[in-house]
Amino acid sequence: MTLAMPEGIDPATLLEVAERVALESGRLIVDERPRDLGVVETKSSATDVVTVMDQRSQDHLLARLGELRPEDGFAGEERGGRAGDSGITWVVDPIDGTVNYLYGVPAYAVSVAAVLGDPSSPGGWRPVAGAVVNPVTGERYTASLGGGAHRAIGEGEARRLQVGGPELGLALCGTGFGYDAGRRRWQGDVVARLLPRVRDIRRFGSAALDLCRVAEGSLDVYYERGLNPWDVAAGWIVATEAGAVVTDLDGGSPSDAMTIAGGPRVHEELRAALVEILAGVEPESDR
Ligand code: IPD
Ligand code: CA
Repeated sequence: MTLAMPEGIDPATLLEVAERVALESGRLIVDERPRDLGVVETKSSATDVVTVMDQRSQDHLLARLGELRPEDGFAGEERGGRAGDSGITWVVDPIDGTVNYLYGVPAYAVSVAAVLGDPSSPGGWRPVAGAVVNPVTGERYTASLGGGAHRAIGEGEARRLQVGGPELGLALCGTGFGYDAGRRRWQGDVVARLLPRVRDIRRFGSAALDLCRVAEGSLDVYYERGLNPWDVAAGWIVATEAGAVVTDLDGGSPSDAMTIAGGPRVHEELRAALVEILAGVEPESDR
């Protein structure tokens, strides 16, 4: 993909903005969470929920990025967006891991990325800076193009991340499942065939954090079908700046069809294993 940085814009400056607003929204969703938090809307299925705090977090990001970077575009998971003319679009997930948030499981994040290209065009965009913040644990994952990936906790010193990782048979593999029942059946068939070929499987419930886990080594490898740009944008740059490879099944950009992330060797082993497994699984569209 040949998307060039617009002149006069520096990925490190975009990262400062991403981190600042992600921390602000992180504080908002923890400090202002209503006691009686409920579901205000459902999307693709009855389990694909939106809380008032998903909306408030997105509203905050839209407003703050409008103040700090008025020329840039904005696209988020919830309602509200903006076109821009600077060549940069902010792609945000105001709460990634909404089901964990609803249940009080401390594995959710605010994900904010600056991207080049058009995030609604598959293969036509890429992130250049991103921040993923878990406001409960205080974990912050940040990366900018050419600037490396880092992890910090609270005010603590940031540590640079570098992927390592064993072969597939010894790899701890993360994955996730969509909200549609038919897709989940397909995903269940795939994971059943992969399970004997890896150390174990984890399903934490936040794709953004899963990609950051690959960067930090608390997962060796990760794959998921059905992710949206806002789920992957910030985690994608964190993982790649830590030395991971992040692709679809054919080695192109991660897409709705598949996202695979891992160190170069285990990424390739998982990619090949998934191609083989998918050849033996009834296609989702035939169900
Ligand atoms: C979801 C989470 C989950 C993944 C789903 C996503 P949301 O995002 O990232 O881990 O498995 O595919 O939709 O709905 O919590 O923003
Ligand atoms: Ca979300």
